[in-house]
Amino acid sequence: MIPQTDASGALRHLLTLDGMPRAQLSALLDRAQHFAEGHDARGALAGTAVCTLFFEPSTRTRMSFTLAAQRLGADVLSFDASSSSTSKGETARDTLKNLEAMGVRGFVVRHKQDGAVAELAAAANADTALLNAGDGRSNHPTQGLLDMLTLRQAKGADFSRLKIAIVGDVKHSRVARSDLHALRTLGAAEGGSIDIRVCAPASLLPDDGTLAGCTVTHDLDAALEGVDVAMMLRLQRERMEEGLVDSLDDYHRDYGLTATRLRRAAPDAVVMHPGPMNRGVEITDEVADGPQSLILRQVSNGVAARMAVLEALLAR
Ligand code: CP
Repeated sequence: MIPQTDASGALRHLLTLDGMPRAQLSALLDRAQHFAEGHDARGALAGTAVCTLFFEPSTRTRMSFTLAAQRLGADVLSFDASSSSTSKGETARDTLKNLEAMGVRGFVVRHKQDGAVAELAAAANADTALLNAGDGRSNHPTQGLLDMLTLRQAKGADFSRLKIAIVGDVKHSRVARSDLHALRTLGAAEGGSIDIRVCAPASLLPDDGTLAGCTVTHDLDAALEGVDVAMMLRLQRERMEEGLVDSLDDYHRDYGLTATRLRRAAPDAVVMHPGPMNRGVEITDEVADGPQSLILRQVSNGVAARMAVLEALLAR
């Protein structure tokens, strides 16, 4: 992967949170918090064109990047793959180069292929910034940032004593990978270390080193015992066809978060989910819409986190 920073360590692209220094991560979160409190920077991207280039569906990421760029004063272009010349065979690289030729400097890209955004970054002009809005199962760095911002607001900036359960389809989840990258960086401290429990059926656990340092279990009740945070993941229904999950009913029985199960967590535990949710599968309505849910706060924070990233990469 090409480096996402320049020689001075400043961000040129945002491709991953893996290896991002703690100071850089914290600075982005501080700035995101500033925006979350209602401050703006309307002129920061005045005269800068940003394109949302999505080759996969999205509601939250695409809309919140659009709002974030607009709030910074950018000109925002929205690329719709289905009605674009990619349907005539034009490559993503040629699409990028043509949009660059029109003067677009910022590209927010989602692609089903792992590493696709980094490949585009390698082909981009020197003053172009690529922002990864989700590639394959690898990275979703702005989801990681908005999740960390939400956690900081709820539990304070010291993550080293936190107990977190991450539950569901970790194997296919770019959200889980980006969250784990950030949690490990922010949760390491002298005299303490974050407690991350990962819970899923064996068929939905990765075997690629993603879970280093985590406690792995197939028992949801054990995973939830005393936790401060329950992070639920979307069951990717398309995996059913691969035979990785027997049935939605079985999955809900073994891995669905219900109000009864949530009582095993700490009394002030919070519940997170990146969306979109399969209600009644990985989470019940009662929990998703209940008082411990931060799910819509995560969505609100998405705008602030994306403003911080766009400003860091594109403000001159
Ligand atoms: N969390 C998330 O990435 O949602 P979208 O797919 O709707 O963007």
